[in-house]
Amino acid sequence: MEDYSYSSSPSSPSSPSSFPPSLHNENSSFIFAPLHITHLQLSSFLPSCGDAGRPALAPALPLYPHTQCCRAGMALYSLTGAILSLQIGDLWHWAAWLGLLYLLFKVSKLYLIWRDMVTAFRPFPSPLCHWLYGNAREFLQIGKELDLVYQWAQSYTYGFPLWLGNFFACLLITHPDYAKAVLARQDPKDDLAYRFIIPWIGEGLLVSAGQKWFHHRRLLTPAFHYDVLKPYVSVMSDCTKIMLDKWEQLVPDKNPLEIFHHVSLMTLDTIMKCAFSYQSNVQTDSSENAYIKAVYELSHLVDHRFRHFIYHNDLIYNLSPYGFRFRRALKVAHEHTDKVIKQRKTLLNREKQLDKISQRRHLDFLDILLCAKDENGHGLSDKDLRAEVDTFMFEGHDTTASGISWILYALAKHPEHQERCREEIKEVLGDRDTVEWEDLGKIPYTTMCIKESLRVYPPVPGVARKLSKPITFCDGRSLPEGARIILSIYCINRSPYFWKDPEVFDPLRFSVENSAGRHPHAFLPFAAGFRNCIGQNFAMNEMKVAAALILQRFQLILDPENEPQKVSQVVLRSMNGIHLKLKKIENGTLKAESM
Ligand code: HEM
Repeated sequence: MEDYSYSSSPSSPSSPSSFPPSLHNENSSFIFAPLHITHLQLSSFLPSCGDAGRPALAPALPLYPHTQCCRAGMALYSLTGAILSLQIGDLWHWAAWLGLLYLLFKVSKLYLIWRDMVTAFRPFPSPLCHWLYGNAREFLQIGKELDLVYQWAQSYTYGFPLWLGNFFACLLITHPDYAKAVLARQDPKDDLAYRFIIPWIGEGLLVSAGQKWFHHRRLLTPAFHYDVLKPYVSVMSDCTKIMLDKWEQLVPDKNPLEIFHHVSLMTLDTIMKCAFSYQSNVQTDSSENAYIKAVYELSHLVDHRFRHFIYHNDLIYNLSPYGFRFRRALKVAHEHTDKVIKQRKTLLNREKQLDKISQRRHLDFLDILLCAKDENGHGLSDKDLRAEVDTFMFEGHDTTASGISWILYALAKHPEHQERCREEIKEVLGDRDTVEWEDLGKIPYTTMCIKESLRVYPPVPGVARKLSKPITFCDGRSLPEGARIILSIYCINRSPYFWKDPEVFDPLRFSVENSAGRHPHAFLPFAAGFRNCIGQNFAMNEMKVAAALILQRFQLILDPENEPQKVSQVVLRSMNGIHLKLKKIENGTLKAESM
């Protein structure tokens, strides 16, 4: 390419005296003007080195007048000369112009974003929103968002646009038909909600896209094979028993008890033992609780950042106190996962042990990651390994903690269903205090209660996508490439078009007869399609084991003084925790003194 933006021709119109262009000279273009100045002309801008009034660097340039290298050198030389020759006042003018141009560029970019979004979402009527904040102000009221969205959903059949400010909008889908259209495609996760979580869980299976996601999903699917999951049931039983023993100690003095925290420790213990073969003591050693606290903090901060669009900007966020807190919690979370990886690598004694392990028929999650090799024989990079461990450590315990805690709350709220589950469990377990693999299929009523709780209190209340190509929905309305979508699992699971009295807790909705013919996307706790939850069987087993053993040992009673307040913070939590009164059951009957 010979067409350079500057010319070395001496016939260039610029002259040293007209450079730099005056701000008042309308004919001058300060972007291109310097580029039309010859090296000879510019050499005279450089400070003279004295003797012959000749510029210090000038002699080197004419030696290679026609080479590209020389031209580039001259441009740099010209620029340096020009800058050195500027007066302070000129510098201010330049800075002002550049600033103004940058501002204009940004404003026009924002305008285009806004215009494209308004056009894209025009076919979809939206709830009333403020001209500047959109619906952002409503979303600042933490703990109100789920009910608010559900309330809005009643006025729109399929969904509605949600505006956070003027430059972020997404279509919030509340109808199974729309969900089906989206989940049948392979659009990537959206680049906003998930972006804030990437510093924490990296680009592991949850967030990655394309070939990387496909390769890792195929690699990790065997870790959830039926034969791998089978022995985990006794691990789950043991972890639940540790929690119940603790509850027995605590209950005489501390009743009602906040259970979410205890359940989180239990599910963390379980995932560490099952997926990472890490013999943790998180439930008994309080010094190991730091990770759980960091997870709370990170979930809260990710949600906070999403709601406050001013913090969507990385620079502002990183300089804010929230950014500081985020980095501090991140350090704790990453130290935890690093410890797990390091310990396992040492144990495996690398080469020798890896060969032995890869010959076993079923590998656990961490084995698979450590044994993985691509076609060139290269293993996963440390970054990819850490991202997967962080993803599974978080996804594998926080979601199930939420699931189990809300199931216990739902059963406390509906004692008649609780009692029916207990009867069923008593019949299957008898005097045993351990659940076995075969038991899991023999507790259909408890399973229905678990599903009903996942419907009413979905641990993952929503998922998001960014369209990689246009989409046309069943009613003919379309959205262009690049549009953002949130699937509100919370609203879809309560869609009045598919669930009669959606607010009523009725486990029999999941009986075989009542489930027959139901829309396959009307119940989406684990999403569906390509990006469905890889750990759903693991999760269902864990929820069954925990529910069975807890109900066998305790009666659960609501604390009317402390009703949980739902909040969507990455997973479904309660702002004030979940407080339940626990009554010990001995030999199948309530213990007299605790009644
Ligand atoms: C009650 C418990 C659980 C619920 C409700 C749940 C729900 C979900 C949902 C809705 C998704 C889709 C996310 C999206 O599209 O952005 C998902 C994905 C995922 N879940 Fe779960 N999950 C649960 C438990 C687990 C467990 C125990 C594990 C691991 C042991 C796990 C690992 C994952 C992973 C890795 C993904 C990403 C899958 C992919 O994109 O290929 N989940 N989960």
